[in-house]
Amino acid sequence: MSETSPIRSPATPRPTSGAPRYAHVIGWGSYAPAQVLTNADLERMVDTSDEWIVSRTGIRERRVAAAHETTASMAAVASLRAIRTAGIEPDDIDVILLATLTPDYWMPSTAALVKEAIGNTRAAAMDVAAACSGFVYGYATGQAYIASGMARNVLVIGAETLTRFLDYSDRNTCILFGDGAGAVVLGAADTPGGGLGIEMTTEPEGAYMIWLPAGGAKRPPSAETIARGEHFVRMEGKETYRFATRTLASTALAAIDRAGLKSSDIDLFIPHQANIRIIEAVAKGLSLPMDRMFVNLDKYGNTSAASVPIALAEAVNQGRVKVGDRIVIVAFGAGFTSGAVAIEWTADPERGRAGDAAVTPADVHVRLPVDWDSVDPIPDALAAVMGRPVAPGVDVPLDDVVPGEPEHARRDRKTEIRV
Ligand code: ACO
Repeated sequence: MSETSPIRSPATPRPTSGAPRYAHVIGWGSYAPAQVLTNADLERMVDTSDEWIVSRTGIRERRVAAAHETTASMAAVASLRAIRTAGIEPDDIDVILLATLTPDYWMPSTAALVKEAIGNTRAAAMDVAAACSGFVYGYATGQAYIASGMARNVLVIGAETLTRFLDYSDRNTCILFGDGAGAVVLGAADTPGGGLGIEMTTEPEGAYMIWLPAGGAKRPPSAETIARGEHFVRMEGKETYRFATRTLASTALAAIDRAGLKSSDIDLFIPHQANIRIIEAVAKGLSLPMDRMFVNLDKYGNTSAASVPIALAEAVNQGRVKVGDRIVIVAFGAGFTSGAVAIEWTADPERGRAGDAAVTPADVHVRLPVDWDSVDPIPDALAAVMGRPVAPGVDVPLDDVVPGEPEHARRDRKTEIRV
C-alpha cells in the first residue's frame, strides 16, 4: 500500500436494498465564545505585531472559551442550534460524530458528553480524530452511515478549545488558533442532493509537522513533560503551509470530479480557515476569483475541526448559499490529512438564523462528576484578557464553578433542552 491512501466514495452513494440514498444537510449551527483575543493582546505577550499577523495570516482576532466552557459545552450549543434549524428533536439523531483534537477528556468521548447535554437518549456517539480535517472526515462518515441505511439522521460536529493547548510564549503557534464549535445534521432522503463526491487523504510522512508530543501512551504526562512544554501544540509552519497549498486544491478537485462536476460549477468553496494566503493559493490553483472562497478567519483564526462548520453556518446564514447551489467544504490538517466534499445545497437558508436565535449557552449543561475538583483551566497568559468585560455590563466568569456543585448542574440533574 502506498503511504498516500485516498478513500474514495462512488459519485452516487449506493444504498442497501430499501435504504435511503442521499444525505442532505438539513440543519446547521455554530457557537463562538464571547471573549475576543486580539492581535494587540498578543503583541503584549510575544514578540509580534498586528501588521505581521495580518499580512502573514489574515487573522485579526480569535475567540477564547470562558473558564466554565469546554469543547463539549460549545459543541452542545452548536448541535442544538443545528437540530433546531433542521426542525427535528434531539432524539431523532441516530449517530453523533464529534471531530476534535481538544477533547474534554481522553475518555469518555466528548461526543458522549454532548449526547447527554443535548438530551439525546438513542444515538451512538463517538469522537473523530483527524485534526483540522476532522469535520470533513466526520461528514464523510455520516454520509456513509446514511447511504448504507444504518442511520437516518447523523449529527456531525467540529469543536475545539485550542487556547488551552497553546504555548503563549511561542509566537509561531499562539497567534494562529482560537476556540469555537459548528455542527450539521445530515438527513436521509430519496431525492437527489447533499454530498455528491468525497475525497479523503492521509499522508503520514507529515505526522510530526503538527503534533502534541506528550500526554499519550508514548509520552505519558509527567512533571518533566510539562516542564518541557510538551503538552502544547508544536508546528513546523513552513512545511505545513507547503502541504496545505499543495493538497487543498487537489483534494477539492478530486471531490468535484467524483461528483461529475468542474470547479467552475462550484458556487462557493468553504475552505479550512487557517491562513488567507493558503486560501488565495487555492483560488489561484483552481483559477477562480476570491469571491468564490468564503473567508471568516479574520474573526476566529484557525479553530481546527470547528473551522469548516462555523464557516459553513455563517456562509449560509449570510445568504451566500442558495437552494440548488453547489458548494465544496475542504480542509487539511495534522496527520497530514485532507478531505473535501462536493455538496448540492437543498435546505432553506432562512432556517439557520432562527435556529441560532432559539438556543443560548444557558440551554445546555454538560454534567460534571459529583466529586469533581478542578484547577482553573485558563492559561496564566490569558488571565488579563479573560478578566475584562466582553460587552458593556457582561462579564465572563473568571473561575470554573467548582469545587462543589456547579450552579447550573444543581438546578436539575436531568438534561434541560429548550429548543
Ligand atoms: N510575529 C512576528 N514574527 C514571526 C511570527 C510572529 N507571530 N512568527 C514567526 N515569525 C518570524 C519567524 O521567526 C521568521 O523570522 P526569521 O526570518 O528571523 O527567522 C519570520 O517571521 C518568517 O517566518 P516564517 O515561518 O517564514 O513565516 P511564514 O510566512 O511562513 O508564516 C505561518 C508563518 C503563518 C505559520 C505560515 O507558515 C503558516 O500559516 N503555515 C501553516 C500553518 C497552519 O495552517 N497550521 C494549521 C494546520 S491545521 C491543524 O491540523 C492544527
